[in-house]
Amino acid sequence: MSKVIYGFTPESFDNRYREPDYHYGTEPNAFLVSQRARFKPGMKALMPGDGEGRNGVWLAEQGLEVTTFDPSEFGVEKAERLAASRGVSIDARRAGVETWDWEPEQFDVVGLFFIHLPVALRGPAHANALKTLRPGGIVILETFSPHQIECRKNGAAGGPKEVDRLFTCEMLRVDFPGVLFHLLEETEADFKGYAHYGRCGVVRMVAERVS
Ligand SMILES: C[S@@+](CC[C@H](N)C(=O)[O-])C[C@H]1O[C@@H](n2cnc3c(N)ncnc32)[C@H](O)[C@@H]1O
Repeated sequence: MSKVIYGFTPESFDNRYREPDYHYGTEPNAFLVSQRARFKPGMKALMPGDGEGRNGVWLAEQGLEVTTFDPSEFGVEKAERLAASRGVSIDARRAGVETWDWEPEQFDVVGLFFIHLPVALRGPAHANALKTLRPGGIVILETFSPHQIECRKNGAAGGPKEVDRLFTCEMLRVDFPGVLFHLLEETEADFKGYAHYGRCGVVRMVAERVS
């Protein structure tokens, strides 16, 4: 694999994922599950930065043809193991947004969950996510918002410290021009995981590529 800029602290995710436990758990993200009516068997989904695979594996269980990628080799191995334990298959690759070959018009769904990339990578990654969708396909996203800084003071956990890695609706309107927003909101969500915990500030988006 050519050089990947880890989006967070260097190699921090390898250090988390080399432990036997699943750092973000094995259950899918609740917002993803809440959107299940949008997913049909046979659709093709791409999950960049899918970590240990909890979301990609759940989409495969819904009958989608799922490709995931993550820079962490330990994450990729655990995603493959999780899929096997659930009796589904995913195409799990080791890559970062900056090395992935974003072929145009390939996927019906791109899922971006807590991918708090540095500013220099975020815009191009979002443009590529849109490019790799077929017209009519959706980007579904949940990430922490700047409100998470306040939430952390009240005991919540998760998300980067740097404010420019926290997402706003305004930022997403700029990054995803010309889409149809089925949902775009800054809200609060309750997490019960070890890494994401408590009442947290998040941004949620479902954006359709219209042409
Ligand atoms: C907070 S975790 C979220 C993992 C997964 N999406 C989930 O919700 O369980 C962020 C993920 O982004 C990955 N990541 C870091 N830098 C990246 C990059 N340059 N390109 C793609 N993914 C990256 C990490 O390895 C990690 O798995």
